[in-house]
Amino acid sequence: MTGGAGFIGSHLIDRLLAHGHDVTCADNLFTGSRRNIEHLQGHAGFTFLQHDVTTPLFVEVDEIYNLACPASPVHYQHDPVMTIKTSVLGAINMLGLAKRLGCKIFQASTSEVYGDPAVHPQPEGYWGNVNPIGPRSCYDEGKRCAETLFFDYHREHGVAIKVARIFNTYGPRMHHADGRVVSNFVVQALSGAPITLYGDGSQTRSFCYVDDTVEGCIRLMETGPMVTGPVNLGNPVEFTIRDLAQQIVDLTGSRSGFIHRDLPQDDPKQRRPDTALAERLLGWSPRVALDEGLAQTVAYFSARLSELKGLSATG
Ligand SMILES: NC(=O)c1ccc[n+]([C@@H]2O[C@H](COP(=O)([O-])OP(=O)(O)OC[C@H]3O[C@@H](n4cnc5c(N)ncnc54)[C@H](O)[C@@H]3O)[C@@H](O)[C@H]2O)c1
Repeated sequence: MTGGAGFIGSHLIDRLLAHGHDVTCADNLFTGSRRNIEHLQGHAGFTFLQHDVTTPLFVEVDEIYNLACPASPVHYQHDPVMTIKTSVLGAINMLGLAKRLGCKIFQASTSEVYGDPAVHPQPEGYWGNVNPIGPRSCYDEGKRCAETLFFDYHREHGVAIKVARIFNTYGPRMHHADGRVVSNFVVQALSGAPITLYGDGSQTRSFCYVDDTVEGCIRLMETGPMVTGPVNLGNPVEFTIRDLAQQIVDLTGSRSGFIHRDLPQDDPKQRRPDTALAERLLGWSPRVALDEGLAQTVAYFSARLSELKGLSATG
């Protein structure tokens, strides 16, 4: 698994190890952390390699999950050239490995391939509305190009591919400072800081708990050779950003108020997956309700913030 020290990857590793697989995690620790995988040190089935996917990787494995890529705007816009190299060169290197080994390969693609969608909800057949030269393009176009590479390796070299388009996922082990909406709101609510709403908060998102996303990824990987994807994985229940903020305030008992900021450039106004294909092909639909998932997430960040406070107090 590339990107296995990150948020989704570390949960996926936990699940694969629990299923009895051995897992090699290759990660350069750009946005991931040893902390996310420290509970696995000493596990006989787990190996960590500090590796950057923009260079080739030589390992012997039976299947590949390709998740390496910073996923939040704060992180992927930090070094846009590196972001697009990670998506594109990372895909080429891992597809080359899958071709050599004759093994199947999973790609963590994204709802961002739909850009600011003109079709709602988004089915897999929709080609998207993406700005190719804006500040988000390094991520969106990088992921689109990676999908192209996956399908070209499949058609030209017969590589068995599994492409998932993952929508907003949240849960424990999200980075506390990644600027994503759920982690932002939870951290602001827990620390009593004002909650930042971009625009008037009426833009909508759908949020999928990480356990559900991981289950969908594994089910897609386990499909037969005829299934390539792309398959949307996300929660079709749509909330306004304002509703989400209010739910987090209520859950944390926070006294935080709201402040408004301008919407960032190219921020999609509406985003919701059409999950009919995932339901039909994988028998998959999200199981964890937002209040249940948020409770787990708040508990995680509450412990994490105390830990960070402890660290800063001890210098
Ligand atoms: N979290 C979401 O809501 C979401 C939605 C859609 C798609 N995805 C995709 O799922 C994957 C995992 O996302 P996440 O939320 O866990 O993000 P994350 O930032 O927590 O994890 C990404 C991991 O990739 C590693 N990485 C980055 N560049 C690398 C490189 N050049 N070489 C090796 N490792 C590298 C990071 O260190 C990190 O561990 C990403 O590909 C992301 O695009 C995530």
